[in-house]
Amino acid sequence: MTEAHDERRDLTACLDFYTEAGVDLALDERPHDRFAEVDPIPAPRLERRDVERPAPQRQPLPDRGTPVDPPRQQTFGRSASAMPEAAAGDARAKAKDCATLADLEALLATFDGCPLKFTAKNLVFADGNPAAKLMFVGEAPGADEDRIGKPFMGRSGQLLDRMMAAIGLDRTRAYVTNIVPWRPPGNRNPTPQEVAICRPFIERQIELADPDLIVCLGSPATQALTGTKDGILKARGRFYPYRVGQREIRALATLHPAYLLRQPLQKRLAWRDFRLLRNALDGKA
Ligand code: URA
Repeated sequence: MTEAHDERRDLTACLDFYTEAGVDLALDERPHDRFAEVDPIPAPRLERRDVERPAPQRQPLPDRGTPVDPPRQQTFGRSASAMPEAAAGDARAKAKDCATLADLEALLATFDGCPLKFTAKNLVFADGNPAAKLMFVGEAPGADEDRIGKPFMGRSGQLLDRMMAAIGLDRTRAYVTNIVPWRPPGNRNPTPQEVAICRPFIERQIELADPDLIVCLGSPATQALTGTKDGILKARGRFYPYRVGQREIRALATLHPAYLLRQPLQKRLAWRDFRLLRNALDGKA
C-alpha cells in the first residue's frame, strides 16, 4: 500500500470519527489549539476608585503567522434562526400550494427556512408506499438516513422492518416519514422551533398521502401530531384523533425503535401496540 493511500484512509477514518461524534460543521479552515491561546477575558472596566491603580498589563498574543479572524458561527438565512414564526408561516403558505407529494418534496428541496437543512447532507422525505393506508411517522433522520436520503435506514429502521414483518407488513404496505425531514446535527433532538417550522410540511404530507391509520413512533412524533403532553409510556397503546379538514384519521402512539434498541425489555409493550395496529388494519379495533 502506498503512503498516499494510507494517508487518505487515515483522513477518511478521522472524518468518520467526527461525523459519528456529531461534528458536521466546519467553522474554520484549520484547527486552533484553544489551550495555547492567551486568556481572552477583557480587562476589567476601571471604576472611579480604581483610577490610581495601573491597568493590568495584557500579554501580547503569541506569533501564529498569518492572523485569522475569530471563527464565526455560520448564519443561514435570517428567516430561519431569527424569525421561526415567519419561517413557519412561509412553510405553511408554500405547503398549501403543493398539489402532490412530489410537489411537496420539490418544495422542501428548495425551502431555506429551516436551519437544519444547512447542516444536513440530504433531504429525507419518505420511503415506502405513499398509497398505503398506513403511515409511520418518526422524529428526525439520523446519520444513516442523512447519508442515504431515506427514513429509517439504520439500526432502528431495521428493527422497524422486523416489527412490521411480525404483523405481516413491509414497506410496500406502509408509508414512512418523520416530523422533521433533515438530520439535526449530532443526532440531537429537533428544537421546538425546528419542529414548528417543519410542522406544515408533515401536516401537508399526511393530508396528501391520506392514510387511514398513522403510527407515531416515539414521544416527539406523538406530541407533535396528537398535541398530548403525556410521556410516551403513558401515551402509547392509544388511538388519538388526527383531524385533516372534515376527516379524522386515527393515530396510534407507540415506542420508538431506537428506544427499544436501548430498552429491549420494553419490546413487549411495542408488541402489544403492534397487535392493536394489526387488529385496526383488519377492522377489528
Ligand atoms: N429515527 C427516526 O425517528 N427517524 C429516522 O428516520 C431514523 C431514526
